[in-house]
Amino acid sequence: MTSVEPRVAIDGPAGAGKSTVSRKVAEALGYLLLDTGALYRSIALAARAAGHAWVDQDAVSELARGIAARDGIRFEPSASGAPRLLLDGKDVSTAIRTQEIAEGASQVSAIPGVRDALLELQRSVARAGGVVLEGRDIGTVVLPDAEAKFYLTASIGVRAERRFQELLGRGEQPVLADVERDVRQRDARDTMRPVAPLRQATDAILVDSTNMSIVEVVSEIVARVRAVRDMLASEKTR
Ligand code: C5P
Repeated sequence: MTSVEPRVAIDGPAGAGKSTVSRKVAEALGYLLLDTGALYRSIALAARAAGHAWVDQDAVSELARGIAARDGIRFEPSASGAPRLLLDGKDVSTAIRTQEIAEGASQVSAIPGVRDALLELQRSVARAGGVVLEGRDIGTVVLPDAEAKFYLTASIGVRAERRFQELLGRGEQPVLADVERDVRQRDARDTMRPVAPLRQATDAILVDSTNMSIVEVVSEIVARVRAVRDMLASEKTR
């Protein structure tokens, strides 16, 4: 790698605050952010639109390969800061954020053909460095040699409460007990699937946000990334 800007991997379970933290870390560092969960959500949405069941491995894999081959998922800058996600040219930024599509994403992401189809796309975004990739398997599978890896987690109660507030904020009418059950189910599926299961990379720094504010989490991660960047810069000039 010629760039001294690190590739930053932020993995962890649902509701650990990853999306907000990753966005703020990327902003603070001036890095590009790739929300890889949005890719799986897009596949879930496309599968539903095409009438495929999320567990139909062959049909959903083929669909994902087709979308990847035609560059069907694109992120476009928007005035609001958060990039818009275009699926075959159509803005699906809001449509992918429902609880139903989160469930679908969790199902389609367990299909090896889907993961394969999205792998190269994720790696190509990261190639130049100066990027934050947020997901479940970035530090373990997508970028095992990323220069800065974090595993962000929090207690199940805190994660369910955060997810609940997020859904309320979007105008949905969630029930806390249901949200907690969904978070547990997604955790179980994400950690127990045979391909790219959710787990902490051995060289990832564990950040437990149960008793930390977003600001504290962001500043810890940013400080560590800057230290890595300084180290890479000094190695380059040696
Ligand atoms: O992070 P987000 O909630 O948007 O992710 C939706 C689902 O996509 C997760 O529950 C997980 O199953 C899957 N996912 C994944 N690998 C990633 C990112 C997300 O399997 N790198």
